[in-house]
Amino acid sequence: MARIPRETVEAIRDRTDIVEVVGRHVKLQRRGASWVGLCPFHQEKSPSFHVIPNKAMFHCFGCQKSGDVFAFLAEVEGLSFVEAVKELAAPAGVTIEERQLTRAERDAIKERATLYDVLEAAASWFEQQLWTTTDGGVARDYLERRQITHELARSARIGWAPGGWTRLADHLHREGYRAELVVEAGLAKPRDRGDGVYDAFRERVVLPIRDERNRVIAFGGRLLEGDGPKYINSPETRLYSKSTVLYGLDQARRAIGQKDRILLVEGYFDVLSLHQAGFGEAVATCGTALTADHVQRLRRLSRNIIVLLDADEAGTRAAERTLPMVGAAGMAAWRLQIPGAKDPDDLIREGGPEAMTQALTLCEPLLTWVAGRKVHTYGYTAAGKERARDELAEMLGGLTPAQVAEVAPVLRVDERELLTWARAWRPTRPPSGPEPEVPAARDDALPTWKAHRDVVHLLWLLIHRYDQVADLVRRVDPAILDHHAPAKPAIARLLQGESVTGILDDEPDLGVRRTLAAVVARTVLYTDHEAARAVVEVMVRLARPLLEMRAADAHGDAVRFGRAGEPDAARAAVAAYDRIRRDLRALEAAMDVGLSRDAAPDDLTDVLTRLALAVGSVADDREE
Ligand code: UTP
Ligand code: MN
Repeated sequence: MARIPRETVEAIRDRTDIVEVVGRHVKLQRRGASWVGLCPFHQEKSPSFHVIPNKAMFHCFGCQKSGDVFAFLAEVEGLSFVEAVKELAAPAGVTIEERQLTRAERDAIKERATLYDVLEAAASWFEQQLWTTTDGGVARDYLERRQITHELARSARIGWAPGGWTRLADHLHREGYRAELVVEAGLAKPRDRGDGVYDAFRERVVLPIRDERNRVIAFGGRLLEGDGPKYINSPETRLYSKSTVLYGLDQARRAIGQKDRILLVEGYFDVLSLHQAGFGEAVATCGTALTADHVQRLRRLSRNIIVLLDADEAGTRAAERTLPMVGAAGMAAWRLQIPGAKDPDDLIREGGPEAMTQALTLCEPLLTWVAGRKVHTYGYTAAGKERARDELAEMLGGLTPAQVAEVAPVLRVDERELLTWARAWRPTRPPSGPEPEVPAARDDALPTWKAHRDVVHLLWLLIHRYDQVADLVRRVDPAILDHHAPAKPAIARLLQGESVTGILDDEPDLGVRRTLAAVVARTVLYTDHEAARAVVEVMVRLARPLLEMRAADAHGDAVRFGRAGEPDAARAAVAAYDRIRRDLRALEAAMDVGLSRDAAPDDLTDVLTRLALAVGSVADDREE
């Protein structure tokens, strides 16, 4: 196998007529600047499949498939991307100089693929054991006792690992998997003495742990009865790292997005019960503590997390330790303890989904919960309160005014005094450097981002009306896109004149890729003539909530500093507030004139200047 250099791929793409290539498979009709036809990738009666030759892309509004000519060919002819590139190279008159992969690279690719394969083969076999064997009866009964429905068991791919020592190993051997691979996948262990391997999971209900692309990467095995640990888990492998994987996330993603919250629980069966009871947003760590990596992963899906760990000592300490992590990630967190020290699975089995809904009303902000526990432990003496305060600040790297306001009543200390103290606070230990953010691999990117209408219009204008709008967009601070951060890099690249296909090649966010593809194919939104006014309007709409929020922040600061007896700071905040309001009023006035139908070009420029000032001037103030 070989890697084809990026420039070569681009050269072939540039020299290939996508309409001609697609036309071999799909009957296309011209419609304006694009060509449309019946989508070859899904059943449809009216055409929603578009080819846009001047952007070298296709997009189907029905099934959302999109991409360049290589992606098209790969999909219809069942080729790999590389094969598709090769097929089109000769007609395009381009010779591919292949860089041979090193042996190590080749082995790595092969091994990785087969690890997934062997895990998938094991998962299917475990399922088959559960549903079709007499032996699996005990496990079927067990699931029934736990009120796991057939449907849920199927979608979670629950299975049964039968007794005996080499049942799975033998099966996989017959299927042609090497023993070393089976061991490496964590499915079997080498015998201490003599040759051969024995199964890692025996007489256990097995729960496959899947990655975000739904591939099985590990298993947890639940003992039904008898001696031994309640759960045994796959060891860490190249595919499975406990500090990043969350059980149930593959199934929970959609619900987390819809409900905009995450329910973090402790156990595998808690996740299953919650999903079954309509709380699809539940996930669990795989028997380990929550890490910053887990948090990073979750944060992309929602900024709200409810920490529902057991009420015992271990669960309590674990809940406490999540506070600095979720704090650093800018997430809002709550602690939920279910009365009677039950886990959510018990609660639902006894009281149904309503009991869970009821329990959720008992959520307490994680911060005040931790503060309350500390001061409760150390006592409400002066020394006790100081110790609680110091530990909290150490944990959070200081306290913000908002945190001070929340915590002061819990610690029963004066808010102003605490604020003054917080301002002077310095860490006793130097902070360990920030954890490097590892950019997600392209394949693991989550389709979390949904474009706002105004962002879609801005993208459309940059893609289809570049000459009319690029200079105007450049004049306004990119801060107007702060609420749409995932789209920022792509917009910056479009502004620099990069092609959409080039951006799509390495844009990591699937949501952004989909949006770009859809925008490319989208029919005319604005004529050449309307483009300038439209882009200014769109930018104003994007900037307004930002400016309103800054005004609200300044107002809040003014009130807080006022209360805290810091007149200088309060005056500065009031001045900032006034300035934002004034800028907003000036902007509105300019818009009344500049965005009207018969406005002169100068009037439009005036709006733009007002906008740039309003967005920029405040940004300057805030950097002091
Ligand atoms: P719990 O002991 O709270 O069990 O372990 P549970 O999830 O309620 O299990 P059921 O309901 O009795 O079946 C919580 C989690 O800790 C890990 C597992 O991930 C489990 O889901 N664990 C627990 C282990 O890895 N090994 C064990 O022996 C026990
Ligand atoms: Mn349980």
